[in-house]
Amino acid sequence: MSHYLLDQVRNAVGRLDPVHAGGRVCGVAGGTVQIGALPSHVQIGDRVRILARPINLSGEIVRLDLGSAHVLADGAVDGVSIGDRVIIDPPVAFAPDDSWIGRVIDPDGNPLDARSLLPGPLPRSLRSAPPAPHHRRGLGVRLETDLAVFNTLLPIVQGQRIGLFAGSGVGKSTLLGDLVRGNSADVIVIGLVGERGRELRHFVDDVLGSEGMAKSVIVAATSDRAPQVRRRCAWAAMTLAEHFRDAGKQVLLIIDSVTRFCEAHREVAVAAGEPANLRGYPVSTGAAIAGLCERAGPGAGDMGDITAVFSVLVAGSDMDEPVADMLRGVLDGHVVMDREIAERGRFPAIDVLRSVSRALPAAATPQENSMIAQARSHLAVYEKSALMIQAGLYAPGSDKSIDAAIACYPALDSFLTIKDGRGTLAHFAKLRQAMAGNGGEMKTTFGDVGKRA
Ligand SMILES: Nc1ncnc2c1ncn2[C@@H]1O[C@H](COP(=O)(O)OP(=O)(O)OP(=O)(O)O)[C@@H](O)[C@H]1O
Ligand SMILES: [Mg+2]
Repeated sequence: MSHYLLDQVRNAVGRLDPVHAGGRVCGVAGGTVQIGALPSHVQIGDRVRILARPINLSGEIVRLDLGSAHVLADGAVDGVSIGDRVIIDPPVAFAPDDSWIGRVIDPDGNPLDARSLLPGPLPRSLRSAPPAPHHRRGLGVRLETDLAVFNTLLPIVQGQRIGLFAGSGVGKSTLLGDLVRGNSADVIVIGLVGERGRELRHFVDDVLGSEGMAKSVIVAATSDRAPQVRRRCAWAAMTLAEHFRDAGKQVLLIIDSVTRFCEAHREVAVAAGEPANLRGYPVSTGAAIAGLCERAGPGAGDMGDITAVFSVLVAGSDMDEPVADMLRGVLDGHVVMDREIAERGRFPAIDVLRSVSRALPAAATPQENSMIAQARSHLAVYEKSALMIQAGLYAPGSDKSIDAAIACYPALDSFLTIKDGRGTLAHFAKLRQAMAGNGGEMKTTFGDVGKRA
């Protein structure tokens, strides 16, 4: 027998529970079932099965009191009665394998694409710690994408963690798909947390397509799954990313969306008795966000890096809502998408002026940095005077900076839509062209774009 098969057998035997320890249902409230007479070794996070009629119901222990445990059920608790027997299930072993690339799985490592899936040789904890801060590398080199805006004004570098902030339907998922298709990472792990069921299919078939799927693994828990399963989805995606990172790969991790992860955490925490606090989010939400995001980022030693993009749903474009606010504090950059820009049909609808990449200035040459500053300045001047210009109240020649901004704005705006995979240097050349209305000044200032100082 090969070592691989032997490992598999050893793991399977290790997970066997020869005696089914258990207890009895002693209360049901909402979706939470209280279990009494459980053995003392049960822990938070343990899986249990309630042997109710007509069906068995699984759940997760979310709270422990002296003598009883509270279980958040995976489904409706209809039919559960006082006295029903409860057994403790063996822990789910999430054992990632390289062969999972190209597949769609659930947070427990089960296939969702109707094909068999082999587990890897070693189970991994879904809640592992990030590499020690003092051993971690700094941010790495610039990643190529297909999108001109990310190759120039908002660079993404290896090991960076960015947030994609937008209201509903502004184009987050489409932009994430574009980032996946044009990305130079070795492996892409995508966690789809709390999406609608039809969106999973749409994401796999239309947004990613066979080209995107060829180096991707999708971990999905749709909105109908129990909150503990949706929350585990983000952890499972991160664990999978860590598996590939530990093998020395450059990993792009995408979580769509971290807001749904936080909502799932809120449901679990409130069911466990934690009081809701800031706009309904319990205090532990901050720790849940930081605990997730910190695991992404640069690796240590021989490890690769996890570059992460977390999408954030900001209701009513309110960037100060609690999840958005907490996330901005822990990430290395944020990209803000704007509904007004989407409504006028400019995609990706990124509001460059409100977006920041903390990889700058280190990720670009001095010449590139001055070009970025110049482009931002034109956009800012135009935005500030837009009402005046559009109302016909601006007299050309009154202000040199406004004249320059008006001259290059249409070209700059359409530059932001470029998606052609021609690479960073070609995109900087296009940015220079877009700004070329500025009296030929660009030619001398930025003639040597791409040569690192
Ligand atoms: N690059 C694009 N080109 C053209 N249309 C686009 C583009 N991106 C988004 N759209 C339009 O916006 C719609 C919503 O896009 P998408 O599903 O990506 O948004 P979302 O922010 O992920 O939405 P949700 O909040 O519902 O998840 C699309 O159906 C499409 O009509
Ligand atoms: Mg979406």
